[in-house]
Amino acid sequence: MSAPQDSSGTSANIDALLQETRRFPPSSEFAAHANVRDEAVYQRAHDDPEGFWAEAANRLDWFKRWDTVLEWNAPWAKWFVGGQLNASYNCVDRHNATSRRNKAAIIWEGEPGDTRVLTYHDLYREVNNFAAVLLDLGIKKGDRVAFYMPMIPELAIGMLACARIGAPHTVIFGGFSAEALRDRINDSQAKLCVTADGGWRRGNIVPLKDTTDTAVADAPTIEHVLVIQRVGPDIRQVNMKEGRDVWYHEAVSRESRRLVDPEPVDSEHPLYIMYTSGTTGKPKGQLHTTGGYLTGVSLTHEWIFDLKEEDVYWCTADIGWVTGHSYIVYGPLANGASVVMYEGAPDYPDKDRFWALIEKYAITILYTAPTSIRTFMRWGDEYPAKHDLSSLRLMGTVGEPINPEAWMWYQEHIGGGGKCPIVDTWWQTETGMIMITPLPGIVATKPGSATRPFPGVEATVLDDGGNPVPNNTGGNLVIARPWPAMSRSIWGDPDRYVATYWSKYPGLYLTGDGARRDDDGYFWLLGRVDDVLNVSGHRIGTMEVESALVSHPAVAEAAVIGATDPVTGQAIVAFVTPRGGYTPNDALTAELKEHVVRGIGALARPKRIYYTMELPKTRSAKIMRRLLRDIAEGRVLGDTTTLLDPTIVSQIKEQYESSEG
Ligand code: PRX
Repeated sequence: MSAPQDSSGTSANIDALLQETRRFPPSSEFAAHANVRDEAVYQRAHDDPEGFWAEAANRLDWFKRWDTVLEWNAPWAKWFVGGQLNASYNCVDRHNATSRRNKAAIIWEGEPGDTRVLTYHDLYREVNNFAAVLLDLGIKKGDRVAFYMPMIPELAIGMLACARIGAPHTVIFGGFSAEALRDRINDSQAKLCVTADGGWRRGNIVPLKDTTDTAVADAPTIEHVLVIQRVGPDIRQVNMKEGRDVWYHEAVSRESRRLVDPEPVDSEHPLYIMYTSGTTGKPKGQLHTTGGYLTGVSLTHEWIFDLKEEDVYWCTADIGWVTGHSYIVYGPLANGASVVMYEGAPDYPDKDRFWALIEKYAITILYTAPTSIRTFMRWGDEYPAKHDLSSLRLMGTVGEPINPEAWMWYQEHIGGGGKCPIVDTWWQTETGMIMITPLPGIVATKPGSATRPFPGVEATVLDDGGNPVPNNTGGNLVIARPWPAMSRSIWGDPDRYVATYWSKYPGLYLTGDGARRDDDGYFWLLGRVDDVLNVSGHRIGTMEVESALVSHPAVAEAAVIGATDPVTGQAIVAFVTPRGGYTPNDALTAELKEHVVRGIGALARPKRIYYTMELPKTRSAKIMRRLLRDIAEGRVLGDTTTLLDPTIVSQIKEQYESSEG
């Protein structure tokens, strides 16, 4: 890292401070065998994006071929118009008809250590049976089905069964509260809610059925609750409401088991609704449809993760988030991959569980989140060191900007010291598929950069006036062309879809993220634009200051915010989680401030630093800076119901107030 650059351009620009110069090209060995080896793919896709996506759509099996690749009446997109297909057929039946029939589709491990392996043939049978149960419960094409589930195979099976009969699903993360579940069920007007008698988390039972009971008491559209027996009555008894609640294992009786033909649906038929984890306001139900979505996730999965027939692929996300939809269920299964699925916590029974899983199943591809990587760093190097991780050959990250130090740690301690390329993948619930990412055989990586837009994706960085910003200046990240997996609307609220994403720059998709491009055309994500700091008229992204802090050996995690300051407009306030073995004190505080100054410049010097054992995070593990701002500004705390652990904010608040006084 070197001294900061001058800010230039309009005040809407974001200053670029972090200068990361390390560069890691793929090994010649990796590059020689990569699925994508020819750089020309970028130019080809750029010159003829519709041709490129049409070729990609050929990887799917269509019952009826499309007439038109794209109908674009901004912001309304229709992809592969006139085409008919079925997502469940593409993820299951077509593999069952080949030698993949006996290949592992889902390799599942429960938290207590119980395991299940479903071949593609097993999956085919299970999906058919589940679809039969849905039909028997009166679910028809177009009806919405809600899932509130632990990470067990029945979740993937149930989603595919919905897709099979054309009933859009909406999966609500199993850590959400009854109110959150109720609101999402009501917004989507679901007729059925699928849940379980419980799920394991850190040795305890998550009482999903009880929470569902509370939620559906206020959800008039729900006709039935379908309950999977995960833990059994010896561990948890649940109440079954007569006439409403149905045990899955009873419904899938011998007589009801049967094959259910996959329903050919239009390419634009709704596949699912996914509510954004959103830190404010009413959740937005992102609507994803069938043909374009499946094309996008299937192609990106094969190219970015360099998927080979023999790979064992593990995405550690929960299926309750879009990452799980696109890169546990639809992308990998459309590609006939072997997918590992793990039910529980990474620190159960001990902090090496992930590494034990990698060793046990000889996992070759790992896809996880920066927040997890920072947690592993904090726990210590000894946990991965206990296991043989040599099966890994590629690793990915998603969900937040990854601080360069966390990237380096991941490469060193998990990736065998540089053997595995790292794909830092930028995308959103709204985008459905990965948008900015390295192609691992072609693109040299730089720690902290998501590198280049995927072929066929046109990304750009604009100032508030809609002009492209110069290289190395931050601005608003925008997608300039429709792409097949894009969200088609917000369920029930098209006006909000237009207002949120398409009105600042008509015809262009506003991501809400800040980014800059460097001289090699690489994109560096700077954090959410709403979180940008403004110090003495300089706009600074949260990512860079946080990365400067995390590059100090005493720091595991950091969140920075701007607090009102009479002199500078805003002053930088940092909340820091120390790494094991470091004790916070005034000397450390002084040192960290200097460390930031040395790394990225005096402008970014934190005015105050607070230490906390945890940062407030959403249930999808994103740092919630808005609440830290509320604390720093002495405001009443905003909505904390989407927090993973709401007690953390009150602890930080107390500490903040006592140390200020
Ligand atoms: O701010 C970006 C951040 O996560 C947001 C999208 O979150 P969500 O819709 O929950 O989807 C998460 C999984 C795709 C983005 O607007 N984000 C995601 N990936 C990255 C990222 N920020 C920087 N780098 C990434 N690789």
